[in-house]
Amino acid sequence: MISGQTLVAGVVGWPVRHSMSPLIHNHWLQAGGVDGVYVAFSPPKDGFSAFASGLRGGAIRGLNVTLPFKEQALSLASGAGDQVSDIARLSGAANLVLFDSDGSVRVDNTDGEGLLYAFARQAPSLNLTSALVVILGAGGAARGAAAALILAGVPRVHIVNRTLEKAQSIASALGPKVQAFVPTQAEAAFDGAGAVINATSLGLGGGEGPAVPWQSVSEGTVFMDMVYRPLETDFLAKAKARGHQMVDGLDMLIGQARPSFEAFFGAPPTPSVDVRAIALAQLTAA
Ligand code: ATR
Repeated sequence: MISGQTLVAGVVGWPVRHSMSPLIHNHWLQAGGVDGVYVAFSPPKDGFSAFASGLRGGAIRGLNVTLPFKEQALSLASGAGDQVSDIARLSGAANLVLFDSDGSVRVDNTDGEGLLYAFARQAPSLNLTSALVVILGAGGAARGAAAALILAGVPRVHIVNRTLEKAQSIASALGPKVQAFVPTQAEAAFDGAGAVINATSLGLGGGEGPAVPWQSVSEGTVFMDMVYRPLETDFLAKAKARGHQMVDGLDMLIGQARPSFEAFFGAPPTPSVDVRAIALAQLTAA
């Protein structure tokens, strides 16, 4: 039931109708008996700033932000009392905006927390603080992943991208622990990798994933895909066929939703509901 005190939060994106965030957050709200609701917003592609600025003052509690607005969400925090977290600044993007009653905004990025949550759940024996991590791709998702890994203490990150300049720009933003490579240098890039993350858009919707120099990959290397439609991407299926441990993008989605939920509604999500099973059912039905 919607009451006179219902807290409102949501997700904003374009398009947004396939977002699974409303499903996840509303199950947590219902199972936890929280008087709140989580809805989806889709302003015009050039209308994010007008939309979000109109929420200052706390018209709603906050927003998760998805493509293509994550960079613009970071720029929202430009006023005197506004705050930007270190991870959002390093990522160059925000996926969480909180609207305080004094008119200020706080922007954060919980995608990195989602990535670490996914690794902790599905590859608990991997010690990221001593691992070389290879990231394929150099878009916003790759930069966010690299930033989160460096902040979490990963000693070395190699970014492999067909457009070298984009990989180099992430490396120069994040410092000497991050190095840039093109796919033809993949053998050097993959040598000694503890984990390989697909942060390209390849594999989305069931297409072929990015190329991997399998002969340069050691036995224990863990493979992670940020794409979760389909859950087992071509990239993960090929890694699995070679006996590698896999981490899928669905736990990353859930892992970024958890701290967002707590920021919106003031308490962590209840463990009594299995949102992974619910999201999986939705993915399979789609
Ligand atoms: P996001 O913000 O989700 O990371 P993006 O910025 O569009 O999305 O980045 C997509 C990534 O997938 C990029 O690294 C892109 O490579 P380029 O930087 O060279 O464009 C990569 N990508 C997309 N299609 C690709 C393809 N066919 N082959 C190789 N890389 C591809």
